[in-house]
Amino acid sequence: MPETQSLSLRNVRAGYGSTVVLEDLSFDLPLGEKLSVIGRNGVGKTTLLATIMGLTKLHGGHIGLGGTDIAALRPNRRAHAGLGFVPQQREIFPSLTVEENLLVGLRPGAWTLERVYDLFPRLQQRRSNMGNQLSGGEQQMLAFGRALLTNPRVLLLDEPFEGLAPVIVEQLFHALLRLRDEDQLSIIMVEQHAKLALAFAPRTMVMSRGRIAFDGDSRTLIENPDRLDALCGIGATQH
Ligand SMILES: Nc1ncnc2c1ncn2[C@@H]1O[C@H](COP(=O)(O)OP(=O)(O)O)[C@@H](O)[C@H]1O
Ligand SMILES: [Mg+2]
Repeated sequence: MPETQSLSLRNVRAGYGSTVVLEDLSFDLPLGEKLSVIGRNGVGKTTLLATIMGLTKLHGGHIGLGGTDIAALRPNRRAHAGLGFVPQQREIFPSLTVEENLLVGLRPGAWTLERVYDLFPRLQQRRSNMGNQLSGGEQQMLAFGRALLTNPRVLLLDEPFEGLAPVIVEQLFHALLRLRDEDQLSIIMVEQHAKLALAFAPRTMVMSRGRIAFDGDSRTLIENPDRLDALCGIGATQH
């Protein structure tokens, strides 16, 4: 795999036990590129991120990170190799403070505590509060910040806006846009809100039943709501 690709999947088949969910998935994520992944419920979006992290059963194919095949590595080794994952469940440590949570996976690099506090001033205000004292929005900011402080090459986000109030979604989206515009990080964002997903990344992938149904310019889908509806289900554009 060429090193200009931060992440590269080749003919990946993966699932849970003997069940195959992802069928023959191939795509490249060039360095610094932002990619949105959308699709109906249950098509395999979370499974895709989990597979990149090594949390599913790989039935075939290759997963490359920065030129190295990581398919045989355990999840913690993949994190060390440069994958940052913000899972849907956020996984905040309830009995650690905000700052302790942030520092759990700290690795040296461009992202420092100071930069994370600059991106999320709310976290600085709450730095001494316990993880279990946070609102949903604050937990999501914390999960983000913690992943950034591992200084990953690739950041994987699974439905970061799920279950959050509109005003919080707006704040978080604004922070993500700052990340997109100011940082060379490669990002894959899985998102149910098609409108946010298409606005976030210039490239969007639509999944359908474990396969890639579309992979291209987000504008193509923005300008063609009927096609988006056909790919993602009626109502995808109404979020
Ligand atoms: N832990 C699991 N064990 C077995 N099957 C699973 C598990 N997690 C998800 N699945 C199945 O894999 C398919 C894809 O699920 P998922 O990746 O969560 O979809 P999405 O994130 O797009 O909603 C679904 O059919 C789901 O039932
Ligand atoms: Mg999911």
